[in-house]
Amino acid sequence: MKLQILSDLHLETEEFTPQAAPDADLLVLAGDIDTTWTSLSLFANWPVPVLFVPGNHEFDGRDVDEALAGLRDQCRHLGIRLLEKETWITQAPDGRRIRFVGTTRWCDFDLFGADKRAKSMRAASYFVKVMRATRGGTIFDPEAVRQEALLSRDWLRATLLQRPDVNTAWDTTVVITHYGPSLRSADPRYGNQPGTASFCNADDDLMPGVACWIHGHLHCRHDYVVEHDQGQTHVVSNARGHGYKHEAAHYDGLRCISV
Ligand SMILES: [Fe+2]
Ligand SMILES: [Fe+2]
Repeated sequence: MKLQILSDLHLETEEFTPQAAPDADLLVLAGDIDTTWTSLSLFANWPVPVLFVPGNHEFDGRDVDEALAGLRDQCRHLGIRLLEKETWITQAPDGRRIRFVGTTRWCDFDLFGADKRAKSMRAASYFVKVMRATRGGTIFDPEAVRQEALLSRDWLRATLLQRPDVNTAWDTTVVITHYGPSLRSADPRYGNQPGTASFCNADDDLMPGVACWIHGHLHCRHDYVVEHDQGQTHVVSNARGHGYKHEAAHYDGLRCISV
């Protein structure tokens, strides 16, 4: 099955016209498409199904729970399938059933271990200020982000431990998160500094059984393989980023991968 992957288009400021890859069976939007949500309409009437996992910037300046409900309404109206702590199973052209497991995931700040958590959370204050998101009337601060991230991780772990049964049979699992699942997804411009814990989680232990893990959030591209006792997991990001920061150079908006 061929998946076209786009993320971090940041169409609130960026000039980019998404086009359907001619041979794709599905389009995956891995978040940070447009903080205003306006450009989501570009994906209405897309020739193949569209899966969307919201990025942190889809929540900018909003109450995160109200925003999720609003995004769901908008996506339903546009025919886009939003996945937040949800799975969707579809049949690939070769007959295999592919399970898509999606959540924004957020960051729990434990990328460098619990003893570095406080430092990682202090490094997140700038990023949280930029977002200006709230939850229930209070700022969606690093502690609130962490609590949501832990819920997401628990859901992800439980979902990935499920085994197919007659009613929910699947052959292959693909995970979609906005946040990176491994320190290996760090942006090489910033590397192993505390701020990177606002971008990646240490989810390497969740990879066994996952054929492919698609993410965004870091404004650089990734394509690597993690070996583990159940084989390997292909980790891919096709984030575009900001042109003014030279992040969008050589971007391939028609990039597809096979699962
Ligand atoms: Fe982004
Ligand atoms: Fe992001």
